[in-house]
Amino acid sequence: MKNILVIGATGQIGSELTMELRSRYGNHHVVAGYIKGAEPQGVLKESGPSAIADVTDADAVAKVVRDYQIDTIYNLAALLSVVAERNPRLAWKIGVDGLWNVLEVAREYHCAVFTPSSIGSFGLSTPHVMTPQDTIQRPSTIYGVSKVTTELLSDYYYMKYGVDTRSVRYPGIISYVTPPGGGTTDYAVDIYYYAVRGEKFVCPIKQGTLMDMIYMPDALHASIMLMEADPAKLVHRNAFNLASMSFAPETIYASIKKHMPQFEMEYRVDPLKQHIADSWPDCMDDSCARQEWGWQPKYDLEAMTTDMLEKLRLKFNN
Ligand code: SER
Repeated sequence: MKNILVIGATGQIGSELTMELRSRYGNHHVVAGYIKGAEPQGVLKESGPSAIADVTDADAVAKVVRDYQIDTIYNLAALLSVVAERNPRLAWKIGVDGLWNVLEVAREYHCAVFTPSSIGSFGLSTPHVMTPQDTIQRPSTIYGVSKVTTELLSDYYYMKYGVDTRSVRYPGIISYVTPPGGGTTDYAVDIYYYAVRGEKFVCPIKQGTLMDMIYMPDALHASIMLMEADPAKLVHRNAFNLASMSFAPETIYASIKKHMPQFEMEYRVDPLKQHIADSWPDCMDDSCARQEWGWQPKYDLEAMTTDMLEKLRLKFNN
C-alpha cells in the first residue's frame, strides 16, 4: 500500500489532489502537507492526517516522511507566474531550493517524487504550434526559469541517484473548488465566476491569444496515472507535455454565452499577463504522454463549461 505526502495540500491543485488520492488509496494513507497560515479546513482536515511540510525546511519534510512511512511525494509547492514575477527570489526559494530539499529527502528515504512543470517552461523562441516534447526552452519569466530547472533537477536525481522522479507540463488548470492565485491563465477560471454571479467580465488577455488549458479532473487523473505508469515504458520522465484543449478568450466567452446569452465581456489587457501569455505555446503536442503512459483527456471546452456552470451555480446557490 502506498503512503503519500502531498506538499501544498491546501493550494489550487493540492486541495483536490489530496481528496482524490484519499479516495483511491484510503484516507489514512494520504498526508496533507501544509505551511503555517494555510492549514487544512473542513473535509480536507477531517478526512485524513495532515502535517506541516514546508519545502524550505528539509528536516521538517524528512520528519513527516519518517513519521508516516511515506513512499510517494507530490510536491506542489510553487508560486504562479504573475506573483513569481513580483518576487523572483521567493519563487526560486520555493520552486528550486524547495525541490532540492524534497529530492534529498526522497533519496534518503526512497520516495518517488512528482513535481509539476508547466506551459510556462517554454518561451518566445519555442515553436508555438504543436510544441514538441523535446524542444527549445528559453523562458523569459522566473516562473519558467524555475520550472525548467525543476525538470532538469528531477531528471538529474533520477539519472544520478535513481530517485523515481516524474512530472507533467500542466496547461492552465480550471476548477470550481480552490481558485488559483496569481497566474496568467487565471482568467479562464475567473470568467466562469463572473458569469455565474451575473457580472460583466473584464478580460486581461487579448482576443486571439491561444493557451493550453485543462479541466481539473483530467489534471488530477493525469498526475496519478503517470505516477502509476509502468517505468519500463517511460522514455521521458520530466516533464510530459499534457494537452486537452486550447482556446482564446473569445472562444471560452462564446462557450459560456451558449448557456447564458446575457453574459457580457470586455477587454482591458494587463501588459504583464499578456507578455507572459504571448511567450507560451498556442498548443502543445502531447503524443509522448499518450504513447508512453496512455494519457487521454475526458473533457473538451464544451463539456468543461457545462460542468463548471452547473457546479458553480450549486456553490453560489443560483
Ligand atoms: N497556470 C499557470 C500560470 O498561469 C501556468 O502553469 O501561472
